[in-house]
Amino acid sequence: MSSAFEGKTIVVVGATGQVAQPIAEALAANNTVIGAARFHDEGKRSALEAAGVTCVAIDLATGDVAGLPEAPDYVLNFAVAKSNDWTRDLDAGVGGTIALMEHMQRAQAFLHCSSTAVYKPMGHEIFHEDSPLGDNHGVWPFLATYSTAKIAAEAAARYGSRRFSLKTTIARLSVPYGSFGGWPAIHLEMMKNGSPIPVHSNQPSIYHPIHDDDIAAMLPGLLRAAEIGATTVNWGGNDAVSIEQWCGYLGELTGLSPTFAPTEATIDSVQVNLDRLHALVGETTVSWKDGFRRMVEARRPELLV
Ligand SMILES: NC(=O)c1ccc[n+]([C@@H]2O[C@H](COP(=O)([O-])OP(=O)(O)OC[C@H]3O[C@@H](n4cnc5c(N)ncnc54)[C@H](OP(=O)(O)O)[C@@H]3O)[C@@H](O)[C@H]2O)c1
Repeated sequence: MSSAFEGKTIVVVGATGQVAQPIAEALAANNTVIGAARFHDEGKRSALEAAGVTCVAIDLATGDVAGLPEAPDYVLNFAVAKSNDWTRDLDAGVGGTIALMEHMQRAQAFLHCSSTAVYKPMGHEIFHEDSPLGDNHGVWPFLATYSTAKIAAEAAARYGSRRFSLKTTIARLSVPYGSFGGWPAIHLEMMKNGSPIPVHSNQPSIYHPIHDDDIAAMLPGLLRAAEIGATTVNWGGNDAVSIEQWCGYLGELTGLSPTFAPTEATIDSVQVNLDRLHALVGETTVSWKDGFRRMVEARRPELLV
């Protein structure tokens, strides 16, 4: 992953996360990077520090962000609280986002990572940024708070952008994946263990997987698109791919055979319209098959046939 900026001061919030850790580490090659999280996992803190990231402990649920710089060039907010405790997750999403924006209101731009999990489940609808919102992930008991807290955090980001005149982009990420994992990597592990993979009975279950390299490459464009009041944009890979398709391809790469368990008790397709992303930022460049092969090479090379 290459660094998209040079000589900037960038605060990466949620720096120990699947999506943000590779970004923070790559950016630290050419920039001053402050990684923020609670750092419950000391190993991740060590890895970030070894890459040159300065780690600052914060707690978004209590609004404790005092250790962060007040005027970085950019803020990339990739934090999300998934404790399944309604109060804690809403406080981290809403109060935490506003605390970050208030503290760093002198930044040039603020990127708030959201999720396509904010869309109301509507089968094979292709969601655009003005589509109805709803409890997409509530069907999963272990992520009961997720969609609601993400919707609420978006509203907080819009409020903070206006309140503090802070240029903001809200980017609704689809399915991120790469050498740090992701949903397709979980499916690969399930295939290896012979576990059936839940897919919605309204098959196929379609999303827009986006490789870590494209996520990193799109950061400058997303920050350039930031406006006071917030620009909202879907953020996914060019290819609309179903779980059934990507597990089939993982099977071709590894010789493992996926088995599917169609059910109503999992999320439905969340296919998105990417016209706004393409107009503001451009298109992704890693084709999904290439990206999936690279993911397997990085994580499970011994499984490749
Ligand atoms: N992964 C996906 O499939 C996916 C799909 C669509 C959208 N997204 C979005 O992409 C972004 C990154 O997701 P991810 O999967 O990388 O998340 P993740 O792996 O769960 O990481 C979440 C990050 O938030 C931090 N965090 C949680 N609670 C916190 C608190 N109270 N105070 C400070 N930091 C806290 C965590 O660090 P500590 O635990 O160390 O505090 C961690 O760094 C999120 O906005 C997510 O909604 C992800």
